[in-house]
This record gives sequence, structure tokens and C-alpha cells, in this order.
Amino acid sequence: MPTVYLNGEFLPLDQARVPVMDRGFLFGDGVYEVIPVYDRRPFRLGDHLHRLEQSLAGIRLENPHSRAEWEALIGKVIETSPWEDIGLYLQVTRGPAPTRDHAFPTQVRPTVFLMPMALKPPPSEAIEHGVAAITARDIRWLRCDLKTTSLLANVLLRQRSVDADCAETLLIRDGWLTEGAASSVFIVREGVILTPPETHLMLPGITYEVVLELARHHGMAHEVRPVSEAELRTADEIWLTSSTKEVLAVTRLDGRPVGDGIPGPAYRRMWAAYRDYKRTVMRGGRP
Ligand code: PDD
Repeated sequence: MPTVYLNGEFLPLDQARVPVMDRGFLFGDGVYEVIPVYDRRPFRLGDHLHRLEQSLAGIRLENPHSRAEWEALIGKVIETSPWEDIGLYLQVTRGPAPTRDHAFPTQVRPTVFLMPMALKPPPSEAIEHGVAAITARDIRWLRCDLKTTSLLANVLLRQRSVDADCAETLLIRDGWLTEGAASSVFIVREGVILTPPETHLMLPGITYEVVLELARHHGMAHEVRPVSEAELRTADEIWLTSSTKEVLAVTRLDGRPVGDGIPGPAYRRMWAAYRDYKRTVMRGGRP
């Protein structure tokens, strides 16, 4: 049973309790992060804490902790984790209120929750053969740049791919690719890696940034620009990225093969670059 942090206390997960009047429970009024930790070292912690600050500011909730305090709390959860590689879940809600009212309570006591989860790399089968995905209309709100716990649209969209025995749902808004239900999306056309620019319609993914940095570093042609649905449907390659999925090739989209139906050459190059980067930099070694 992992030890979690809840509002000033470290306790076993099955003993952590939140009051039913918590606005996270009643309204999904909160934000979260999932921070990958390798060999007990948080990866790009500064970037995750920056995104947390942006999400908190976006929902007008004061940050309950300084960076140093967050680092100390995260350090403690990592220290007591039963796993060396961790997906560290962090959530802040607007806390409990005396009555159920959409308007903010006058006195806010945010609920702060940190939980370690085992972080396992994607199975080798998924890396070798790729995964299947479906598309769906992006029915989410217009602040998808905020990592909020109000995830009902993402949950429903992701479940559609589960029902279709697929790994992810790729989202299309007004004829343009936004992202996956829980991942960022890249495509490859004629040797060029393409991905949509960060706007309010997608989450600024930390892995998205890593993949763009690796493309730059390894001289792989890439362009950050809007990607149309037509371009997605006729792409030579499609990739998904996230802190938990790393970089995965989508080899079937809506039941049809993507390109040759196997992970393409650009994917294999990027995956090798990511694997080397993970072995070295993410695990605290030299590049
Ligand atoms: N989700 N877009 C969405 C909608 C996401 O939920 C995620 C990650 C990403 C990728 O972001 P990053 O590279 O920083 O993990 C993009 C996490 C893993 C989750 O909700 O569990």
C-alpha cells in the first residue's frame, strides 16, 4: 500500500479521505499533474510545476505552495514510494465548502493530494507493432490548455476507443487535429514531422516538448503548424506521446492501416532517440 500525502499528512492510500463537500468531488473544481519519475528522480519537475502554476492561475485558485515546498513534498512521496519509476499524481482542488454553490466559497482551503503510481513503459509489443486508434469530434471545452480534473469529456472519448479495442481516441475540432484524449499527437508526411501548435485547444505536453527537442537535436525535419483532418487521415505515420505512453506509433486509424501499417522509419528513429535520452538524461546520466 503506497503512502500518499493529503493536506499535511502522510498516510496509507486506503486511509486517505476527502469530505463529500469538497469542490473537487461536487464540481470537478481542481487541477492536476502526472510527473514521471525515473530511478526516484522527477523528470522535468520545473516544467510540470510551471504547468501546474498555469492551471491554478487559469482556474483562479491561489497556489497553496511555493516551488520549494512542492519539491519537498514530492521528494518525500518519492522517498517512501514502493517503486523506483513512478507516475507521480498531484491534485489541488478548491477544497471543501459549507454549501453546494457554483460560486467560489469566501474562504478557500485547497485540498492537496499527492500519490505515487507504478510507472511501467509501454509493452514491447506496442513499440514493435504500434497501436490502433479511432477518431472522434473534440467535444471538450475551450480551455484544454489547463490540466483540470474536470475530465468527463476526455473520459467518454477515451472509453470509445476502449470499446473499439483501441489504445487512444484522436480528437478533431472543426476539421483540425487537436490531440488525443490523454496524449499529444504527431504525424509524419513525406519525411516531415508535423504537430499542432500549443493553443487553448490542447494541453502543452511535456513529452511533446521533449519530442520536438529530440527532433531538433537529431536534425529530423519538423514543423509546428495546424494539422488538418485530411492530413491526419493520409499521414505516413502517426505518433502519440505522453508521460506514461512515451512515444507510440499508431498503425491503424479507424480500422485502416496508417502508411504501411507498421511503425515507420521516422518513428523508429525518434523512439531510439527517446530511449537513449531516457537511459541517460532522464535517469540522471550524461547525454
Ligand atoms: N495525460 N494531452 C492530454 C489531454 C493529456 O491528458 C496528456 C497527459 C497529454 C500529454 O502530456 P504529458 O506529455 O505532459 O504527459 C496531452 C496524463 C498522463 C494523464 O492524464 O494521465
